[in-house]
Amino acid sequence: MTMPSRRTLLRGSAAAAALAALGHRAGGLDAAEPTADAPPPPPAGVPPDVLAGDEGYWRRVARQYDVTETPVNLEAGYFGTMSRPVLAAYQRHIGRVNREGATFARREYPAIARAVRDRVARALGVGADEVAFARNATEALQTMIRQYRGVGAGDSVLFADLDYPAMQDAMRGLAAARGATVATLEIPEPASRQGVLDAYAAALERHPRTRLVLLTHVNNKTGLVHPVRELTAMAAARGAEVVLDAAHAFGQFPFTLPEIGAPFVGVNLHKWVGAPVGVAAFHVRRDRLDAIAPAPGEPPPHDRIDSRLHTGTTDFAAVMAIADALDFQDTIGVSNKAARLRHLRDRWAIPARRIPGVDILTPDDPDLVGAITSFRLRGDGDERRNAGLARTLAEEFGLFTVARSGLARGDCVRVTPALATRPEHLDRLVEALRVLAAR
Ligand SMILES: Cc1ncc(COP(=O)(O)O)c(C=O)c1O
Repeated sequence: MTMPSRRTLLRGSAAAAALAALGHRAGGLDAAEPTADAPPPPPAGVPPDVLAGDEGYWRRVARQYDVTETPVNLEAGYFGTMSRPVLAAYQRHIGRVNREGATFARREYPAIARAVRDRVARALGVGADEVAFARNATEALQTMIRQYRGVGAGDSVLFADLDYPAMQDAMRGLAAARGATVATLEIPEPASRQGVLDAYAAALERHPRTRLVLLTHVNNKTGLVHPVRELTAMAAARGAEVVLDAAHAFGQFPFTLPEIGAPFVGVNLHKWVGAPVGVAAFHVRRDRLDAIAPAPGEPPPHDRIDSRLHTGTTDFAAVMAIADALDFQDTIGVSNKAARLRHLRDRWAIPARRIPGVDILTPDDPDLVGAITSFRLRGDGDERRNAGLARTLAEEFGLFTVARSGLARGDCVRVTPALATRPEHLDRLVEALRVLAAR
């Protein structure tokens, strides 16, 4: 095990002091009491799968969110609503930034931002020197893809139909800039773990000069949780590196980056972590920093991850509120949160799968699904009709969902509950699907 240097320890303790001054826990589960306005901690000793169905506990958690129900938001896949404590903290931070202005930004903010970065890095299981903030996952991932040095003329870059469109675009842009070819694959439908692994194995076999693979941890179209650890190892065995789009994964279920092994990872903080809109992060593994070129024209030193994206002035208060969002999340526990989200997803997807004419695209295998699941009616992937279906769900049944495009087999409607979702709203969705499938 590598020992932390004295400097790292000092930086760590200064960071902890900066967080403590803001009333935050320094290091997750081993640290002090939750803040006064956090939700009640879960009952001790109850396993996540059992707690998932404890409606009394989850009603108290849901009360921590101030959300409208006209229509009911079943589109939490876009961005995550802040809980009341996080929103209150964010508003306090905005007030402080506005009141104290540059005095705060110049004197105090840098240490706070460092402390928040430490906190995010710890939650991801990596070093603070391997993490930098971005404004969203698109910026984080496009930065790494565009500046990736490992692709040359005649090489290939590989991505799948279910990967996020903006990242597909960046992969195409990288290939065009380097004289490389674009290789693509389709994720099988219905998806299974082995089916996904086989699809990537076949694609890598077809394109032996693949150097960079875009993998999505939880894709935005069907919510499938991809077997990213195995896929990263498979790519590495064939001489390709992985850029992992974990925009939807961080905060949706527990994992750490070292266990996945991808050298380049983008995460969102404004989706499942529940921080304000406008914050994300990227990870470049220390031993692979040189594989990502500095931001164009960035003056030296280039030995720090910060030289890879030059954002300029950002939303100070949003960055500060990341710590509040992580406090809130730690109080509930990521495993408890993950189990509850899957419980909510199962509440509608399992009965809906039994309705004739409803195709649930996301498997029930607990390793392959989280909060998000998509469906089609009677195998119909038509773009206009799926958009119409989402509209009907909103206008006739008061349930807000979204149609998604880009799947090889056609469009679908995506449903994403969150901790604020009440189970009866998901029962309403099942009834709505019964009516629509029979029409
Ligand atoms: C899988 C995936 N990657 C990336 C993104 C982009 O996130 P952002 O809009 O924050 O840039 C999204 C957004 O929904 C997504 O679902």
